[in-house]
Amino acid sequence: MQHTYPLDAWCIRETSFDAASNFLDETLFALGNGYIGLRGTPEEGYAGPAGTSLDGSYLNGFYESEPIQYPENAFGLARNNQFMLNVPNAKGIALWLGDERFDLLQGRVESYARRLDFRTGLLERDVVWQAPSGRRVQLRSRRLVSFASKHLFAIEFTATPLGSDAVLRFDCTVDGEVRNQQAGDDPRVGSATTGPALKLEGTELAPHFAALQQRTHNSGFTLVSAATQVLDAAHTQELGQDGYRLVQSYTVPVQAGQPVRLVKYGCYYSSRDYAADELLTRARAELEAARGLGFDQLAAQQETYLADFWAQADVEVAGDDALQQGIRFNQFHLLQSVGRDGKTNISAKGVTGEGYEGHYFWDTEIYIFPFFLYNKPEIARKLLEYRYAGLPAARERARQMAHAKGALYPWRTIAGEECSAYFPAGTAQYHINADVAYSIKQYMDATGDDAYLLQYGAEILLETARIWLGIGSYNRAGAFVINEVTGPDEYTALVNNNYYTNAMAKLHMQFAASVAERIAREQPLEWARISAAVALADGELEEFRRAAAAMLLPYDATLGIHPQDDSFLDKKVWDFAGTPDDKYPLLLNYHPMVIYRHQVCKQADVVLALLLLSEQFTLEDKKRDFDYYEAVTTHDSSLSSCIFSIIASEVGYQDKAYDYFMETARLDLDDTHGNTHYGVHTAAMAGTWLGVAYGFGGMRVVNGEVRFAPTLPKQWQHYQFRIHLHGSLLQVRVSAAGTQYTLLRGEALAFQHRGTPVTVSPAAPVKEFA
Ligand code: BGC
Repeated sequence: MQHTYPLDAWCIRETSFDAASNFLDETLFALGNGYIGLRGTPEEGYAGPAGTSLDGSYLNGFYESEPIQYPENAFGLARNNQFMLNVPNAKGIALWLGDERFDLLQGRVESYARRLDFRTGLLERDVVWQAPSGRRVQLRSRRLVSFASKHLFAIEFTATPLGSDAVLRFDCTVDGEVRNQQAGDDPRVGSATTGPALKLEGTELAPHFAALQQRTHNSGFTLVSAATQVLDAAHTQELGQDGYRLVQSYTVPVQAGQPVRLVKYGCYYSSRDYAADELLTRARAELEAARGLGFDQLAAQQETYLADFWAQADVEVAGDDALQQGIRFNQFHLLQSVGRDGKTNISAKGVTGEGYEGHYFWDTEIYIFPFFLYNKPEIARKLLEYRYAGLPAARERARQMAHAKGALYPWRTIAGEECSAYFPAGTAQYHINADVAYSIKQYMDATGDDAYLLQYGAEILLETARIWLGIGSYNRAGAFVINEVTGPDEYTALVNNNYYTNAMAKLHMQFAASVAERIAREQPLEWARISAAVALADGELEEFRRAAAAMLLPYDATLGIHPQDDSFLDKKVWDFAGTPDDKYPLLLNYHPMVIYRHQVCKQADVVLALLLLSEQFTLEDKKRDFDYYEAVTTHDSSLSSCIFSIIASEVGYQDKAYDYFMETARLDLDDTHGNTHYGVHTAAMAGTWLGVAYGFGGMRVVNGEVRFAPTLPKQWQHYQFRIHLHGSLLQVRVSAAGTQYTLLRGEALAFQHRGTPVTVSPAAPVKEFA
């Protein structure tokens, strides 16, 4: 499916249109602003072979809900699925030359170029097309999904008849005849409903405004999808409606060589954000404002937003063009994917496709959160606010799971309800609670934002920590044990004492207790409010401390490694030598139980703990654990290679560090997992950043202090990344000459370079080490 893109540092582009790669290209060339996501399907639509396209438009957090059907039921299973809907396609512009419709799959494409630019945020297309009759037209389009206005997108569409005069017609549509894709056998694709999920409530069709008002059947949301056009040439207009499809047609007689420019503005408003009866008015006002600004102004806003983003977040790597492109592509897509309103989060596929149904996972906290924390901390805060918004649902879920107290976050969800239908690799992943707590700790270490902690964080920490007391218990030897959970590795399920879970739960309880004690000491009034809000009983904090201190952390003295869980090392090792390549990923070729009874990992588990809890292990421990788990890990999950890369760097396996990193950095661009057509892999995209900062940069945060231990892959001349810390911006640049730390903005910062204390300040902003 893949084709090769030229290696530009700041864009992806292609110079030919190929139906065979169209499905994938729709994902790669998708645009988004954290709310709206438009796949890269052309404005005129795509009528190629079946299975080569999904013309999707998505709104982060806008979902339909359906009961999950279990032929064999059990108490407490997740009841409803929430899935991101394919919403009306409002970007449609069909171009007619006389009676011939512009279509890349008909006639002859004389020249073609398409480009997605990470600095302008524009998706641009430049085509010269010859119709079957021989008539010719040049088409230029520029598309943007506004970073400045959450609800808005815009398309500039310029057509020029070549050779002879022509009558051009632009059919501009808002099309509600859209469906979600049907699930096949791949659990990573959506399982969504097949019928139209949105019923029509009303339409408005006027010369300057076309709008569909629809409603979801079960989740009860109202949605308005609207568009308007501005045409810079004398024209006649016709309005039409065909069921769920609104058409505004513009007919323009044009002389050869004369460009006609049409600008389409589109917007979406839903009752997840505003009262249903305000949506039409808001949409109308949004489009009026956009018409007033004009496309160029919107494009300028886009560029300004991105200039600011890159000034904070750009990662530069000299010596490998393919990699540089991959890194920026990933960062750009992360920015396009992340919800930033406190009500939405970032789904496993962003807003680029229907894979994993628009669900949010632990991917956010453990992989994606650090990227935003250190590059755009205000977005990181919004991601944490989202978890606070989900606290009531997490409390309810905890009660369903027989926990008298506390809150249990869902393994996968959109609005907070548990949506994982397969509990062994879903609800059983209780580590989600510790992952959320870990992200709060990281956030506090990097920002010291006590206001967040008081308003939201402390409550989350306490409520989620309680679950460990709920599921754990003391064994006969007095150790605190956690039974019947699944750790991060989804090829091993329902085990006792998963190392990662136990170690993360231990930190979680310690952190919750120390945060509580600090607030009680420093802010007694706030503490009174928080402890009342969670109805904290006497002795609960001591219980956290006691369980944390007694936590069982498995260690195998013979092998000198940390067993993934109580039974892992006693299982038979998977027959890797006897497994042909076409049997990977294993999850598509073997029953889960066959996989579960073997030593085989889908992804980093203990190895992830080596990163997150770095200071708890010696370098020798890390090396032995890495060696052991590398031999039994398939990396069938896209969340795996980046973590192996980071630990390989730390233990001195430079070649492996580089190879694993390369697997992650261009995972989507090169479609190495073969499923990018269903959407980008946001965790792996962020894992690329982790690979640079934590891997090659050797960055760790220990007791709130940042430490670096950079290495330079021999393939590169230099690399550089930036991090926000306590409101300041630090640049780390590593080359053969050494490491240079530069304070780009803000107050003095203290950190360590390979054990040496360093301070950079406005007076002395640069420090260098050979
Ligand atoms: C991984 C999970 C991950 C999910 C969504 C699965 O393949 O095993 O760890 O949360 O994908 O990205």
